[in-house]
Amino acid sequence: MTELNVSNRTIFCKDNLDVMQGINSKCIDLIYLDPPFNKNKKFTAPIGSSAEGAEFSDIFREDDVKAEWLVTIREDQPELYHYLNGIRGVGNPYNFAYLAYMAIRLIECHRILKDAGSIYLHCDPTMSHYLKLLMDCIFGEKNFRNEIVWQRQSGHSDGGQFGRAADYILFYGNVINHDSVRIPLSDEQAKKYSYQDALGRYVADNISAKGLSGGGYNYDFHGHKGPWRYPEHRIKQLEADGRIHFPSKKGGGGCLALNGIYTNTKGLFQQAYGLIFHRFKAIHSSALDTRHKSLWLC
Ligand SMILES: C[S@@+](CC[C@H](N)C(=O)[O-])C[C@H]1O[C@@H](n2cnc3c(N)ncnc32)[C@H](O)[C@@H]1O
Repeated sequence: MTELNVSNRTIFCKDNLDVMQGINSKCIDLIYLDPPFNKNKKFTAPIGSSAEGAEFSDIFREDDVKAEWLVTIREDQPELYHYLNGIRGVGNPYNFAYLAYMAIRLIECHRILKDAGSIYLHCDPTMSHYLKLLMDCIFGEKNFRNEIVWQRQSGHSDGGQFGRAADYILFYGNVINHDSVRIPLSDEQAKKYSYQDALGRYVADNISAKGLSGGGYNYDFHGHKGPWRYPEHRIKQLEADGRIHFPSKKGGGGCLALNGIYTNTKGLFQQAYGLIFHRFKAIHSSALDTRHKSLWLC
């Protein structure tokens, strides 16, 4: 890991490739990209909006692909180079140019990201499936964590077909520190996860298999016959791990209610959007957590 050699919390108004090429390797914790989607259109900011006058071209042509990008891609990522050449001439003729533009930038993202960093690539169905392969080549298939589907609208006016109302966020990371992306339990969740011990909060659930259609496992556990939902070796392991809840009061029928198993500890994962929003908010809040350095590409 190296020192961050650009000012933190800075907006760079230039080509992000130039910016990233000047950043030290492995010094960024988080990258979120909202890049062009290859819509083959020019976008202009609405008249009257604060961005009026701004425009950007989401149009890619083979002439825009620089020869040196292809050299870097071939040397750095031979598999990716084969993939790019393979799709040349497949489908939309502009896909190659768009993916080469993305590839050279994603290679830089990979270089500057810490080993324990995470990257979120926002795209839509125009290119999401092509970008997934590109990301797999660069960030490693095993580091793919999730494809987050963001429902942007509840309905869409594209009659005659299922509405295209979603964007996709491809999420990659190697060592994800889950604790840094947890958000506190809501009151409702805290009420449900009402027990607490050294492992964290938990909800008590029944481990008896009585009345379950699939039956259960019959053996003696602390003087009770079962049937149990788990085989004996599993229940012994859970007990050894301190994950069986022994209530102080006797349950119905006068027997000890061995009901209780940890279904969660610490906090719950929220919907992905909330989760990402929370992490970004934490990073950009005035009480900045200096452990995180983020790079937004938009
Ligand atoms: C899909 S838009 C995202 C806009 C922004 N995130 C928003 O929600 O308003 C893509 C943006 O990337 C910018 N962009 C395109 N190529 C870029 C590059 N090489 N370096 C920096 N920004 C670029 C465009 O100008 C455009 O504003």
